[in-house]
Amino acid sequence: MKFFVDTADTNDIAELASTGLLDGVTTNPSLIAKSGRDFMEVTKEICGLTDGPVSAEVVALDHATMMKEAEILRKIADNVCIKVPLTIDGLKTCKALTSEGTMVNVTLCFSANQALLAAKAGATFISPFVGRHDDNGFDGMQLIDDIRLIYDNYAFETEILVASVRHPIHLLESAKIGADVATMPPAVIKSLFKHILTDKGIEGFLADWAKTGQSIG
Ligand code: E4P
Repeated sequence: MKFFVDTADTNDIAELASTGLLDGVTTNPSLIAKSGRDFMEVTKEICGLTDGPVSAEVVALDHATMMKEAEILRKIADNVCIKVPLTIDGLKTCKALTSEGTMVNVTLCFSANQALLAAKAGATFISPFVGRHDDNGFDGMQLIDDIRLIYDNYAFETEILVASVRHPIHLLESAKIGADVATMPPAVIKSLFKHILTDKGIEGFLADWAKTGQSIG
């Protein structure tokens, strides 16, 4: 399973990339606004921090302008993945870009039928938003389960990129279902390393080791 980080904060991205466990980055207009940085500049910097796909989102709503924006964004670096919304124009843009070999992440997916359309449009990634789904009284994990079943039924190669992840249980359930990727806020990725019994175990071992009076090397 691939781990992407969902942020435009380059310090967090650099820190997580240094673990060797980061496979890519997703951003969106809200995350760019939160960073307070210039979109093109920060996207270029992020692309230099990982070899994996870096999702950069178009903001136009019509196909022609989306294509123009994608043209500008894909020149930033080879690992830019163009993010388009799940609309008719977004999927037209997806089809056109993937036919030319450009990676596309179709975002704002809230139904399995939408995910089926994205796969038919040749999407590289489909981004179902589990957290926002849960917030609105739907079952985010059921959505992932349904998409996995449909994609497997027809051997679609579109990767299921679980988005709007809010906590480690979202990741655990996604991994059990067999989602291909999860994009998580930095805090959620960092929390995965932690367990109170790991901390307690280290404390106990170090206390006992000190009693031996030995050192390694
Ligand atoms: C993914 O690509 C989206 O940017 C992101 O996961 C949205 O998450 P949110 O619902 O926490 O804003």
